[in-house]
Amino acid sequence: MSPPQKGLILEVGCGRGRTNEYLGVAAARIIQMDSSAAMHSLSPREECLAQLHCDCRSIPFANSQPSGVVGFLVDPFMGLGFLSEAYRILKPNGVLILTTPAYEWGRAIRGEGDPTDSELSNAIL
Ligand SMILES: C[S@@+](CC[C@H](N)C(=O)[O-])C[C@H]1O[C@@H](n2cnc3c(N)ncnc32)[C@H](O)[C@@H]1O
Repeated sequence: MSPPQKGLILEVGCGRGRTNEYLGVAAARIIQMDSSAAMHSLSPREECLAQLHCDCRSIPFANSQPSGVVGFLVDPFMGLGFLSEAYRILKPNGVLILTTPAYEWGRAIRGEGDPTDSELSNAIL
């Protein structure tokens, strides 16, 4: 999966920042966003153009701004509110790249407890 070659890339749930490491995007094109002030203070961290402390379900961007929205291990907080915002702010033909954690880990973080054996079998199939 390749990120857009031009334009801004918004990294949601950035933590220490992963967009340069995983996608090779230059720091001058990356805006990091996280709802946790503590995560914005992590060090060492990737360089970027700007850091935004806010919730990705309400993004302070006008419509059609970045060419890419990316997020790594975002499943526990990704919902329709975020997907709607990503669609709103992306330029036409913009790219959304997300990775999710392992099913068991994501489920635990969402507060849904441990999966049953049957649920695990279905998830693996
Ligand atoms: C599992 S960590 C992943 C951090 C980073 N993406 C990585 O792969 O190293 C999830 C991150 O999402 C952030 N987060 C959770 N809910 C969020 C929300 N609604 N809006 C923005 N960030 C959120 C957390 O503060 C945390 O930094």
